[in-house]
Amino acid sequence: MPTPTPSLLESDRNPTLSRRTSAATSSAIRDLLDQAKQPGVISLAGGLPDPALFPRHELAEIAAQKIRDGAVLQYGTSQGEVETRQALTALFQPADLPPDQLANRMVVTTGAQQSIDLLASVLLDPGDVVVVGNPDYLGALQIFRAHHAELAPISIDSDGLDTTELEHALRGGLRPKACYVVKNFHNPTGSSLSPERMRHLGDLAARYNFLIIDDDPYRELYDTTREPSAACFPDERTASLRSTSKTLSPGLRIGAMVAPDWLLEPVIIAKQSCDLHTSTLSQAIVAEALEAPWYQTHLERVRTSYARKRSTLVSAVRDEFGERATFKIPAGGMFLWANIAGCDDTTQWLQRGLANGVCFVPGTTFATSPDPSGTPLSNYLRLSYATGSPTELVEAVRRLASCC
Ligand SMILES: Cc1ncc(COP(=O)(O)O)c(C=O)c1O
Repeated sequence: MPTPTPSLLESDRNPTLSRRTSAATSSAIRDLLDQAKQPGVISLAGGLPDPALFPRHELAEIAAQKIRDGAVLQYGTSQGEVETRQALTALFQPADLPPDQLANRMVVTTGAQQSIDLLASVLLDPGDVVVVGNPDYLGALQIFRAHHAELAPISIDSDGLDTTELEHALRGGLRPKACYVVKNFHNPTGSSLSPERMRHLGDLAARYNFLIIDDDPYRELYDTTREPSAACFPDERTASLRSTSKTLSPGLRIGAMVAPDWLLEPVIIAKQSCDLHTSTLSQAIVAEALEAPWYQTHLERVRTSYARKRSTLVSAVRDEFGERATFKIPAGGMFLWANIAGCDDTTQWLQRGLANGVCFVPGTTFATSPDPSGTPLSNYLRLSYATGSPTELVEAVRRLASCC
């Protein structure tokens, strides 16, 4: 059943701020993680892509040429430039729609984060129900909470969102407007939605008339061409989100949303009032990069590097914690979600870790339900292997083990 969004007491509210702003509170963990910026701390916390993998020289060349041409210095269209939309169709393969139709139904956004926010703006009235995983991506939860949605948490296991539990809730009367799902390499758990569950979720969306918000920013970090078509999600009931943050650069802020016709126009209007359009310079850089001869080699390098770092982190955790560590090795993405027997309160462990020069994100940060079943989220930690070098990853785990 939905959990009401935490709201501030009227008396605690600054009357000058909107209710929406007041709902966004600071968290103790965020304050703790601020300390991670101190010199000497190795961070396994943020999902920051490895800066060594940014194709800096290639992007610089494209940018210089585009700026010299000058066209990218002008305002653009709210839906996004045609060439950019056509290039971004590559992120939606395999797809049943031909590229031209995909591009027509696409909006170029300022990252997947903005796509989620635009969808929340056009879909949600206060009190509307959104199905989310427990745990789930904090950035999406913040948006849904800011829109005063009620979150309906559904368990996530090694096959992703538990669609049987969702069906049970729907049969029991749950009527969500939307279901937010990260089907590949979920943040924070690293799990992927099994093909059976994808089909099941698609059936449920069609039967109970809710929108699937298919947020898939990590899929390119693994060769997903072998994946079954996302067409098991019904076209009319799915908004598919992609991003170039993890493969090219998050600083360019380029995301893409493919939405059904009934949703497209409201999203474009919301986008217009939000920021008119996504940076024309960033769009032009990404459009050219995705079609450049070097792009596939770059992508292979990114995939190989993250796969190697994942193996380094997994071996380091095994070496330091042995059988006490429980986790499933993620097939891709950036995160290892683990539970270490004997280190049960990971928020307290984070405090000791920071004193010892290492940080991570405690499991409760991603909680959507105050009362989880099974092992409590407070026993979990999310370790990111994206940013650090292999040597730093090994040292970080050694520091973690010494203060467990
Ligand atoms: C699941 C998920 N969705 C969306 C985002 C935001 O991506 P973008 O940089 O495209 O806004 C992130 C960033 O870490 C994420 O983990």
